[in-house]
Amino acid sequence: MFKIDNNHEISIDGISVRDLAKEFGTPVYVYSKKKLQENINNLKTAVSTHFPNHRIQYAVKANTNPHILKIVQESGLGADCSSPIEALISKKMEFPKDRSTYTGNFESISDFKVAVDSGYILNLDDYHRLDDVLSIGKPEVLSFRVNPGIGRGGFEGIVTGGNDAKFGIPYEQVREAYKAAIDKGFTRFGIHMMTGSNILEPFYFAEITQKLLYIIEEYLLDLDIKFEFINIGGGLGIPYTDQEQPLDVNQTFKLVSDVFHNKVKELNIGEPALMIEPGRYIAGNIGALISEVTHVKSSYRNYLGIDAGMSTLIRPALYKAYHEILINGRQTGGDTAYRICGPICENSDIHPVDRYYNNPKAGDLAVIKNAGGYSFVMSSNYNNRIRPAEVLIDESGARLIRKADEPSDVFKNVVDFSL
Ligand code: LLP
Repeated sequence: MFKIDNNHEISIDGISVRDLAKEFGTPVYVYSKKKLQENINNLKTAVSTHFPNHRIQYAVKANTNPHILKIVQESGLGADCSSPIEALISKKMEFPKDRSTYTGNFESISDFKVAVDSGYILNLDDYHRLDDVLSIGKPEVLSFRVNPGIGRGGFEGIVTGGNDAKFGIPYEQVREAYKAAIDKGFTRFGIHMMTGSNILEPFYFAEITQKLLYIIEEYLLDLDIKFEFINIGGGLGIPYTDQEQPLDVNQTFKLVSDVFHNKVKELNIGEPALMIEPGRYIAGNIGALISEVTHVKSSYRNYLGIDAGMSTLIRPALYKAYHEILINGRQTGGDTAYRICGPICENSDIHPVDRYYNNPKAGDLAVIKNAGGYSFVMSSNYNNRIRPAEVLIDESGARLIRKADEPSDVFKNVVDFSL
């Protein structure tokens, strides 16, 4: 997707970043359709090699631009939704019912209403909510999100399993959960877990799968449930630094299949599909955030200011997440250390770790990599900055798929006021 020529000109799928910045302004998110399709195909091949019976759902929260969703939907994936609007957009994009889920937590009754009306499989975070759900309607297929007591993640904020996580039903209570659902007349079941995000170790996915199967064996066997799917969540990571290796998805699903097939047969729990719901693996590396250097300042250390701050990309401020940043086509290699920061009035509006460049200056382009997932979707109008544009590169070139806000958009819902 990225090419850097001998003159250090960067291009994305053959289109120069300089031209993209000129045409669409900065900061701007740019996505590659080619990379998106490549990620989906890699995953499909790896999963289907080891699991003829599988379902892959895209966690739409990672990048919800409808033009991205359309490509994902056309490739045959389902959707995993975490909010009413995600369910509405997924319905609109025609993600299929039997391969899409609603996975919420601490839902309001109106959240449940949209979830149930969507007809998607409901993935319930707490069985004490069954009556709330039934007060609206009865989803055809139900699964519970189990907290298997294990969690891992790229950083603390994205560990979603284990005893410090707000999510899921503690595995010790899983029998009560399914028993309650059976007593209330549910007949079609799956089981689910999501234990953390951005994991690069193949063995981890086998480890959690094995634990979930042991939980079924220990707590659920006498209920004689035939599971339609076993959903091991998302969490497939991508490398954000040079030192990290990409996740070997073929090895990952081979290892998962080693613990899955025999145990499922032994337990006689039906012929469940392996279900996964990745977001980052599909969308994380399809995009870059193109930004412009606004100012370089020597203070107690050197700061390199760019026009994309934490309102545009919050991951560095929120998690101290590392993103590679190319300045004028150079990743690093200079002799001077800089901290890269944005224009927001918070000292956390800064990228972690010194970066080394040679004489960067105002007007240079900064290209922030791996900004396809959890990037635009987490942007805000903080400091009354506008949310940036999104651009998609496909067979016919680069086109705008979301305009940047106008300044007046920031106040558009204020009553009796316009800017
Ligand atoms: N399923 C559920 C129920 C989830 O909550 C998530 C993500 C996924 C699937 C997809 O996980 P993935 O395959 O992308 O790891 N904002 C953070 C990531 C938060 C992930 C939240 N849940 C970040 O910027 O790294």
